[in-house]
Amino acid sequence: MSYEKHMRGYKDPRTFCHIDRLYAWKNNKFFAPATVEISPINICNQKCRYCYVHTKSNLIRKNKGLEKEIFIDIIKQCKEMSVGALHIQGTGEPLLHRGIVDAFHEIGRQNLPVYLTTNGVLLDKKMAREILPHATLVRFSNFEPEKKRYTYMHDCPTPTHYDEVVENIENAVMLRNELNLDVALTSTLYIDESNFERVPQYIKQLKSMGLDYVIVGEASWTSQTFIRERRPSTEITLKEKKILVEEISQACYKMCDNNFQVNFTPRIMPKKVMKGFLSDDWKKNSCQGIKFTASIASDGEVYPCWRFWGNKKYSYGNLYKCDLRTILQGQKTIDVFNYINTTPPEFDECEVCSIMELNNILGMLKNPTVWHNFLSC
Ligand SMILES: C[S@@+](CC[C@H](N)C(=O)[O-])C[C@H]1O[C@@H](n2cnc3c(N)ncnc32)[C@H](O)[C@@H]1O
Ligand code: SF4
Repeated sequence: MSYEKHMRGYKDPRTFCHIDRLYAWKNNKFFAPATVEISPINICNQKCRYCYVHTKSNLIRKNKGLEKEIFIDIIKQCKEMSVGALHIQGTGEPLLHRGIVDAFHEIGRQNLPVYLTTNGVLLDKKMAREILPHATLVRFSNFEPEKKRYTYMHDCPTPTHYDEVVENIENAVMLRNELNLDVALTSTLYIDESNFERVPQYIKQLKSMGLDYVIVGEASWTSQTFIRERRPSTEITLKEKKILVEEISQACYKMCDNNFQVNFTPRIMPKKVMKGFLSDDWKKNSCQGIKFTASIASDGEVYPCWRFWGNKKYSYGNLYKCDLRTILQGQKTIDVFNYINTTPPEFDECEVCSIMELNNILGMLKNPTVWHNFLSC
């Protein structure tokens, strides 16, 4: 494990490193997205109770996902257009895609940084040997080191999923050492009122397994989740226990060192990571960040963000019919961009948005105040 070795720069401000993109954006010129998310497949081997893609992935026809040739071609197109990085994630479990190993080989050939988000069940020794040498970061999603709860929260078809993930994380750590790979190994951990007191114990265990970084957050229970109940956030459920939560977060931060870092982001924490907005907070023209990213669904549709997964009316275009550059420069992309920037979300779909921080930075750049000129005082 080594946060310092594999994740140096991870917490640096990222937006300002994109001077060319920012300049093009400010001058209304075309530029390639910094990050493209690819959803290779929309079926899953788990049914996490909180999972927000349930409704979305049901809108996309269930099939074997992107054809392998198209998947490979998308990777090549991204490189050719100077996309900065890929995020393999989407509306299902990406490692279920039959061409995933070939896709990672292509990503390696194209020398593109890639972030893989996975539940990790299928990342066995054989697959890890093919994928890890080409990956920049692997994130094991909501890995809570407690078998009974893991099995319940992920609604696993078999309790052996838990044992497989433990084995796969440990193998990934060993393989990284053996092959001297430069891949960051991380996980997320969702807390709520029923597990937060055990978090220090979990973090100790995750550190000892050899992970570099753990994000302690919370699941957003939106109207899109598997279970049809909208659960309150930690801000409400843990309100009375705020001091205790803070003490717990401090106990976790004490375990941080050059090799291992934790980030506490539940909404109850004072310095929570910026989350998306509810429709009441929405402001016109505030979704500029979507120009810096694009999301490709498992049927080849290109969407601005997760809000529209599966809703073809708001797709920029389809990669089975047209190349990515042409799609992103097309009239439909402009129309969808304008729609998003003039129409608030109908429900709570933007609550889980991760582009919010970028939107805020772009807002500051577009509307500078006099204070921006005081760089040295
Ligand atoms: C939809 S999954 C798809 C990739 C893969 N199946 C996995 O679980 O990593 C992508 C990420 O969204 C997270 N996620 C799903 N539903 C969520 C929710 N309601 N709140 C917060 N994160 C959620 C998952 O934990 C995972 O890290
Ligand atoms: S979070 Fe990932 S593993 Fe869980 S149901 Fe959703 S897509 Fe599947």
